[in-house]
Amino acid sequence: MSETPKLKVTIDNITVEVPAGTSILNAARQIGGDVTPPAMCYYSKLEGSGGKCRTCLVEVSKGSEKDPRPMPKLVASCRTNVMDGMEVKSITSEKVLDARKGVVEFLLLNHPLDCPVCDQAGECDLQDLSYEHGDAGTRYEFNRRTFDKEDIGDKIQLHMTRCILCYRCVFTAEQLTQRREHGILDRGDKSEISTLLGKSLDNEFIGNVIDVCPVGALTDKTFRFKNRVWFTKPVDAHRDCPTCKGKVRLWMRGDEVYRVTARKDEWNEVEDWICNTCRFDKKEVKDWVIEGPSKISRHSVISQNHYVNPAKTQNVLPEVIGKDPKLLMDIHTISDVNRPEIELSRIDGPAHSDDFEKKDK
Ligand code: SF4
Ligand code: FES
Repeated sequence: MSETPKLKVTIDNITVEVPAGTSILNAARQIGGDVTPPAMCYYSKLEGSGGKCRTCLVEVSKGSEKDPRPMPKLVASCRTNVMDGMEVKSITSEKVLDARKGVVEFLLLNHPLDCPVCDQAGECDLQDLSYEHGDAGTRYEFNRRTFDKEDIGDKIQLHMTRCILCYRCVFTAEQLTQRREHGILDRGDKSEISTLLGKSLDNEFIGNVIDVCPVGALTDKTFRFKNRVWFTKPVDAHRDCPTCKGKVRLWMRGDEVYRVTARKDEWNEVEDWICNTCRFDKKEVKDWVIEGPSKISRHSVISQNHYVNPAKTQNVLPEVIGKDPKLLMDIHTISDVNRPEIELSRIDGPAHSDDFEKKDK
């Protein structure tokens, strides 16, 4: 059997050899680090994904050895395959960096700035993208889009205003489940995710749409408003599951399991799809064999408080302003921890202020 020929491609002055048919994005992933373009819609595990969001734009300064002409426009690296001798600029191109700023601005045109109340905060690809590539302002002067609320089932919450129309959830439902009941309706700024007939998405693997969603448009109703992700500790665990491989990540606080998700790789993509039973119904430690703490990038907010004996930051504000700052509200006088008899991970629906202990009582 003949081997697939290897092609040489140089990205930001680093040369790699990849098999023919590899996209520029996947070649850059082999190099890793900052050279790798961000990707909001491409998902290596989903066939046909990519080409929707334009966050992965790169400049091709040399087309190939045979035809060295540069490509006239920036190209989507997830949808452009490498050619032998190709030269690509990612973070070394001013044009690319400028285009990324524009794409972030575009993605945020209709996205609500509701990170403080969004369950995805702290693990949102759009938050990270805006932080790394975004600009401070926007030129948009119109109202953001609004939608009628749609209930898509008892386990998954849809916030259509946050959706960036990446299509990942549609591909997941199409490729993982027997039957897809949702899709993207209408065109242009009227496009929206919908189940059309208001049918719930209740097949055994549909919970995976939560994990592939790069923003907070699809979140887990069983975890909703119960904790912030950076207060929980992720641990890898497994169980003998008849439906899926049962290899998951538990998001724990103390010995309570708040949330179960699939494990993700360095590109924030699911390693193994998990079934709804593992995700939504196995919320007790005894359901799982714990393997140990999950590897989380130290740059992630989720890593905070995970160090042994961290040095406490010094409050320098009184020294700087010459007096104690006047607090508008000290969050700790309003709420601290949940009342002992209440297990937040078990209550039905979102946590409520009544579920927390009031210190001043
Ligand atoms: S709901 Fe999430 S996964 Fe689905 S299209 Fe919108 S942003 Fe993408
Ligand atoms: S990741 Fe390439 S267009 Fe979205």
